[in-house]
Amino acid sequence: MEKRRLLVTSALPNANGPIHLGHLMEHIQTDIWVRFQREQGHECIYVCADDAHGTATMLQAQELNITPEELIAQMQEEHQRDFSDFKISHDKYHTTHSEENKTLATLIYNRLLAAEQIQVKSINQLYDPEKKMFLADRFIVGICPRCKASNQYGDNCEACGATYDATDLIDPQSKISGAKPVLKESAHFFFTLSNFTQYLKTWTRSGTLQEQVANKLSEWLDAGLQDWDISRDPPYFGFEIPGTTGKYFYVWLDAPVGYMASFQNYCATNQQIDFDDFWREGSDCEVHHFIGKDIVNFHALFWPAILHVSGFRTPTRIHAHGFVKVGGLKMSKSRGTFIMARNYLEHLDPEYLRYYFAAKMNGGVDDIDINLDDFVQRVNADLVGKVVNIASRCAGFINKQFDGRLSSQADNPLLTECINAGDGIAEHYENCDFNKVVRDIMALADKANQFIDEHKPWVMSKDSARKNEVQQVCSDGLNLFRVIVTYLKPILPSLAEKSEIFLSIAPLSWADRSNSLTEHQINKFQPLMTRIESEKVDAMIEDSIEEPEETDTEQHASEMIDIEDFAKIDLRVVRIVAAEQVEGADKLLRLTLDLGDETRSVFAGIKSAYQPEDLVGRLSVMVANLKPRKMRFGVSEGMVLAAGPGGKDIFLLEPHAGASPGMKVS
Ligand code: 2FM
Ligand code: ZN
Repeated sequence: MEKRRLLVTSALPNANGPIHLGHLMEHIQTDIWVRFQREQGHECIYVCADDAHGTATMLQAQELNITPEELIAQMQEEHQRDFSDFKISHDKYHTTHSEENKTLATLIYNRLLAAEQIQVKSINQLYDPEKKMFLADRFIVGICPRCKASNQYGDNCEACGATYDATDLIDPQSKISGAKPVLKESAHFFFTLSNFTQYLKTWTRSGTLQEQVANKLSEWLDAGLQDWDISRDPPYFGFEIPGTTGKYFYVWLDAPVGYMASFQNYCATNQQIDFDDFWREGSDCEVHHFIGKDIVNFHALFWPAILHVSGFRTPTRIHAHGFVKVGGLKMSKSRGTFIMARNYLEHLDPEYLRYYFAAKMNGGVDDIDINLDDFVQRVNADLVGKVVNIASRCAGFINKQFDGRLSSQADNPLLTECINAGDGIAEHYENCDFNKVVRDIMALADKANQFIDEHKPWVMSKDSARKNEVQQVCSDGLNLFRVIVTYLKPILPSLAEKSEIFLSIAPLSWADRSNSLTEHQINKFQPLMTRIESEKVDAMIEDSIEEPEETDTEQHASEMIDIEDFAKIDLRVVRIVAAEQVEGADKLLRLTLDLGDETRSVFAGIKSAYQPEDLVGRLSVMVANLKPRKMRFGVSEGMVLAAGPGGKDIFLLEPHAGASPGMKVS
């Protein structure tokens, strides 16, 4: 097999926020592919970086009263720790705010300039006179000119779907200072993307993109491309454009260059690898970018055009994926499904998530829906119930009855079948169709378990005449386990490592899978993976719940409900008949509520504001028809209503003393 040389990247996470499930899905997908390539014996270098520049980083640093440099250093450290705990095997995790990136962005820009593909044009833009800065569309809100919904962003209306210019908004406001924006003129630098429509029509159909993505881009290409504004005015956190004062590269110009810069930094410390081998035009090394479908325009239009003009190679392939959903819905902070990497790690083993994501990914751009019950069930059934079970069923006999020694033969036909299945599994890995990888591996695990069930070593071992058979069946079982773990290794690197120690073997590799173990000494069996306890998942969700801030300004029209929706909510006056602390809960009190004809037990996040004894006897209002929710501490049968920002300032709604329990609130 020819040895391939690959450079692989995941999209650069923004330096102004923590790593969450969405990032994890992408990095896990990339990492599985990278580990697979390495296991195949290819040279595969995986780089990433924090995307440090832009207005968001600048504003966030201001809010925290630190410099952007301090913020990005802190975030980079956190991001790297999160990724490393999820076993993401970046060879280099850099930052776009680096010397290498500045030099490369400058070089590329100078080449675009020399090729006469940069134009300076004056444009009018909304400007915040208080903050003294130009405002991107997402920093302006106002009334939609079409449907008159309030609180709409500067580019489109979430209520009616209209698209417009920020200057068309009625009563626009700066989201940063609240000031009324004014129009102001300024010179901007444009990359003449429109000159590359023909080039990109060919490039996007040259096998570099998934078909669905290429089709989407065709729509844009057919509509004609606009030139691309690559400059921003101060204040801005970024690189100053060479030859100008007070013009900065737009973050999206130097972000993809960050892929090259990170790789260059890697080359500097790994001198046997030559930067130009990978990036010169016509290079036969491969470059693969893994990204979300929302940023294909940057990666499949702007980026190849810029690389083409500046004399570098273009990517071999762009692997786009969809978004993560939880329970069929967008991740949500108030539902506790906007799960941060660190929060997950506090409760659960990262390999569970690696496996579950793998089982759901097929290399397409559809969204990936996480169902938490299915997550628990699937991991427990497949990994603990099937895969680890093969080893645990066989190891005891080999260790106890044969001093850890495997038999001298390994010619079981099922083993041959399992080894031969590797080619098909490899093809699925190559296509990022991890769902089929998992399906095929689990089918093999089922067969291995059936084989053990049929031969029943626990029965044979009672008959001393069948001792050899017991050793043979269990040795076959462990050899099957070894091949299965070889196939799972890109998804479950820790399980593979523990299995290598248990089997006392060198790191598993694809090519080596047919060299089964005979007359081999294994180590004592250690539990390789434990079952997920669903309480831990509940605890993770509970810890992820964040009260929405400033709901009045944040509320978008698309999230508004109709009167019919409102009518579905059964609000009742209740009397609190008991209130108590909940052991182990930081925020919750358990309330017993009298609704007139029944009592309910409800957990309320009001502990920071109330002493339980002060609540007993009070009236309040509850949502009586909320589905009971299973929490770590018990079932909550509804919800009481309270107002306030949190902490000491939470105020339980209290009807007039004339109201009585059970009354409907309308
Ligand atoms: O969408 C994002 O989060 C960007 N920070 C991704 C950048 S990818 C690359 F182009 F740098
Ligand atoms: Zn509208």
